[in-house]
Amino acid sequence: MSEKNHRRILVTSALPYANGPLHLGHLLEHIQTDIWVRYQRSRGHECHYVCADDTHGTAIMLKAEQQQQTPEQLIANVQAQHCNDFNDFLISHDNYYSTHSEENRYFSEQIYQQLHEQNLIAERSISQAFDPEKQLFLADRYIKGKCPKCHAPDQYGDNCEVCGATYAPTDLIDPFSTISGAEPITKESVHYFFKLPEFHDFLTQWLSNDNLQPAVANKLREWLDAGLQEWDISRDAPYFGFEIPNAPGKFFYVWLDAPIGYMASFKHYCQSKPLNFDDFWDQQQAVEAGTELFHFIGKDIINFHGLFWPAMLNASQLRLPTAIHAHGFLMVNGEKMSKSRGTFIMARSYLTHFKPEYLRYFFASKLSNGIDDIDLNLEDFVQKANSDLIGKLVNIASRCAGFISKRFDNQLAQQLPNTELQNALLAESSTVADAYEQRDFAKAMRIVMSLADRINQYIDEQQPWVVAKQEGQDADLQGICSQAISGFAILIIYLKPVLPELAENAEKFLATSLDWTDLDKSLCGSTINPFKPLLKRIEIAQVEKMLASNTEEKAPAKVAKQQPEEAAKSSTEISFEDFAKVDLRVALITRAEQVDGADKLLKLTLDLGDQSRTVFSGIKSAYQPSDLEGKLTVMIANLKPRKMRFGISEGMVLAAGSGDNEIYLLEPDAGAKPGMQIK
Ligand code: 2FM
Ligand code: ZN
Repeated sequence: MSEKNHRRILVTSALPYANGPLHLGHLLEHIQTDIWVRYQRSRGHECHYVCADDTHGTAIMLKAEQQQQTPEQLIANVQAQHCNDFNDFLISHDNYYSTHSEENRYFSEQIYQQLHEQNLIAERSISQAFDPEKQLFLADRYIKGKCPKCHAPDQYGDNCEVCGATYAPTDLIDPFSTISGAEPITKESVHYFFKLPEFHDFLTQWLSNDNLQPAVANKLREWLDAGLQEWDISRDAPYFGFEIPNAPGKFFYVWLDAPIGYMASFKHYCQSKPLNFDDFWDQQQAVEAGTELFHFIGKDIINFHGLFWPAMLNASQLRLPTAIHAHGFLMVNGEKMSKSRGTFIMARSYLTHFKPEYLRYFFASKLSNGIDDIDLNLEDFVQKANSDLIGKLVNIASRCAGFISKRFDNQLAQQLPNTELQNALLAESSTVADAYEQRDFAKAMRIVMSLADRINQYIDEQQPWVVAKQEGQDADLQGICSQAISGFAILIIYLKPVLPELAENAEKFLATSLDWTDLDKSLCGSTINPFKPLLKRIEIAQVEKMLASNTEEKAPAKVAKQQPEEAAKSSTEISFEDFAKVDLRVALITRAEQVDGADKLLKLTLDLGDQSRTVFSGIKSAYQPSDLEGKLTVMIANLKPRKMRFGISEGMVLAAGSGDNEIYLLEPDAGAKPGMQIK
């Protein structure tokens, strides 16, 4: 890209779903975007960064229902949580909005009307699985049954996890809706389709521009060559979303209005700023204004952003993205993030144990502009933080600052003794800048750390601690320390997009601003402030604690230590709200096993309709495992998993009884289905 003096850039990250908390996978993307955005701003460009929660769809509707909330309440709570997490990770969105907004409704309707007027919407009836109890059409992921090949229970509608067979949901034996447990029926309804095949030539052209990474463009070309299908953009009521104009009971599919959410968030942002929305979105005006638009996304959603979205934009006379920047998935310790290993790390859980900048730096050191997966190896994480950030970077300042404050009243030397070193550091500015621009942050970090090595080597050679003890060497001492600190300032400028808080504290220490535009400013002769530690070393034990907090239950409430009367009092009465928090479900015992070394426990595998759970239950004295298999019972499904000696127990089954030999497992009446909620 040619170097423009002043660029006008709009940047987005993919919109997180509003059905749960953020995890480190989300943070990989937002940190990548944020570093790029902060870099652009640091160069003095106008760079706006907007995002929003992706709030529509069946999953969110069901989740709200399960939590006895309205979808509006659910998405408001989740948005507040998401904003908190992003803030604490120093993500600098200019606006974080919601797809459930008037702006989004307006643009979604407008774009749809445009497509409709150009005869780009087809209408036809299709048959789909339908839950007769819940009165809801069922996407494949909401249907389970027995594998048609090996008869394993509890398999999803596309493939069997036990024998590996692949099949259609209609092939399942005894299929059931994971929502109500009812057997699905087939039902017809009218759907609306976006005529994507008409965009074949346009998309071929779009894919030939260099606005996509080669691997992404290749993948998209494969899909294009295989032949585009019309895209189903409608869903039947009940659905949480926007109703389609002139189509009562039909709603826009969540993936239609999600990317439009980028526009809606920017529109909302423009309302409080002297900014012209059309300069960034109108096809014509965007060219005249010379604005740019970049979407950062994960590689799993390139079809939506690289095919469907450009086609929609093009048909609506809206501008196309300047580029789409896709990244790979986040792995932890070389494997997919896993709840049972504790490596499905929530953003908040990380923040309870670590400052955000260790992770920001770690991701930066791993991210290149490709779509390879990124591995968060946790030992590497600790090691990198300590050796690079503390050992190499912060150490430069902490080794030299004391002399400047104690011996020179905080004043830096008028001149640097080694201009060659200073120039060598400055000479890398365009390579580092280019690496940021190209999103090769790993390269930028490598260069910066090699420069840090050079400064440390300079300090080692000059030995200011020896010079400090020699009479009449004050000027030398001040020169050496000023040289190192001036070099440190350059490194902070290079790292500020990655380490904004550390950079802010370094700015206070050096009493100056440290943006790219400050590179040619000299600190010589200036007065700085006493040095305060900028970052602490971290320990592997902190990582272990974090992982444990993702798997284990917190220490049990100390009811046992209460006085008996108190305990009795507090257990006689609970509020309805407290009771409503307990999620009681019908569960099918698919397996019951002895547990080696346990006197009272049996290990139960429970089928809850849409998931399976392992529960350890103290019912061994009353039941033979084989008598339990196939039985229905009742379980507490939202009990926090508990780490026990023999494994993790993910819930509790309910039994009545007075002693070890008198245990009666609760069993619902015939007809109840796994997963049904007990109300
Ligand atoms: O895959 C996801 O998490 C989606 N919520 C991303 C939407 S990005 C955009 F199109 F809105
Ligand atoms: Zn099978």
